Amino acid sequence: MPFNTALTRKLGIRIPVVQGGMQWVGYAEMASAVSNAGGLGILTALTQPTPEDLRKEIQRCKTMTQYPFGVNLTLLPAMVPPDYGAYAQVVLDEGIRIVETAGNSPGPIIKKLKEANPPCVILHKCTTIRHAMSAVKLGVDFLSIDGFECAGHVGETDITNFILLSRARQTMPVPFIASGGFADGQGLAAALSLGAEGINMGTRFMCTVESPIHHNIKQAIVEAQETDTELVLRRWKNTSRLFKNKVTDEATRIERESTTGKFEEVAPFVSGKRGRQVFLNGDKDFGVWTAGQVIGLIHDIPTCEDLLSRIEREAIETLSKASSLIVDKQPEPDIRGKPIGDIKSDPRSDHDKKVPGEAQIYDIGKAKL
Ligand SMILES: Cc1cc2nc3c(=O)[nH]c(=O)nc-3n(C[C@H](O)[C@H](O)[C@H](O)COP(=O)(O)O)c2cc1C
Repeated sequence: MPFNTALTRKLGIRIPVVQGGMQWVGYAEMASAVSNAGGLGILTALTQPTPEDLRKEIQRCKTMTQYPFGVNLTLLPAMVPPDYGAYAQVVLDEGIRIVETAGNSPGPIIKKLKEANPPCVILHKCTTIRHAMSAVKLGVDFLSIDGFECAGHVGETDITNFILLSRARQTMPVPFIASGGFADGQGLAAALSLGAEGINMGTRFMCTVESPIHHNIKQAIVEAQETDTELVLRRWKNTSRLFKNKVTDEATRIERESTTGKFEEVAPFVSGKRGRQVFLNGDKDFGVWTAGQVIGLIHDIPTCEDLLSRIEREAIETLSKASSLIVDKQPEPDIRGKPIGDIKSDPRSDHDKKVPGEAQIYDIGKAKL
């Protein structure tokens, strides 16, 4: 049964689930598998060393799916920044019209993508309402609201999706999707209930059959709990959520104890090159690699087809169950023979045991206060 949201209509997809850009994961195998399964797959531009390599990867992806897919362009501060304009030009030349943007100062790139004929649909990822507002002014079509739970760059405000999504619903004049912490259909249903038009997932897609990374890393995700991520680089206002391992422990120790505060001290530990090797050699402690708190909800390694069918089924069941909670007539109380509102009828209540003068709210008076 197809979904009908602003996202599915605009992108021509069946299930309102986007696979977010993922460095060293977002290759054609990944993106095409998600698009073939009814979601939106996304290639990660900077996973390709040059714009011409991106062109080849887009062409390869076209041979692997007949469904829409997009390209992620992540603009991060660098000593020698990549030629973002050239990457964007390849995207346009190859006829791609769905782009996920992320990072700093995306204005010029978004302008270029919007001036194309036909213009690109832009999904812009942001971790604060302030940044989301700036992106709206740049003319983006969808905001991808990335909560503090998310993998990778979490921003510096630490606001989780329960607040962030509702703030987006209350304030944003353009549609948004929910990103960070999603792995199942219950999550999709929750996001739709909070006003989102769909969800964006990274870590969950990393742990699928088609994800082009070493099996050991997928297994490490399956075995991990929600507490197994670590925030690094806060001191330099570039906070990233990574899988907790020996290297992140060492990096955070240096970050905490360094008297100079020089980034050079921590740089060798957070090197992207070593992180890339992790995905190839399967040694989870070889370098740092990105993962979100959602690792605690991931218990298997399905195909993208199985995963998205399951998410679709669970979301439909959850939304139907939610609507069945509204009834014409209030049912009989479970505690028979006692009128509703009689506090003594609830066997778990000890309100009647309170002594006069003691706080009557949630046992505050009996606790440490
Ligand atoms: C391995 C990995 C690499 C990522 N690389 C990028 C990236 O290069 N650019 C980007 O915008 N987001 C990147 N992300 C973030 C995802 O696109 C997505 O926003 C995030 O994973 C959502 O949180 P979740 O993992 O809880 O689903 C990455 C995520 C992972 C897991």
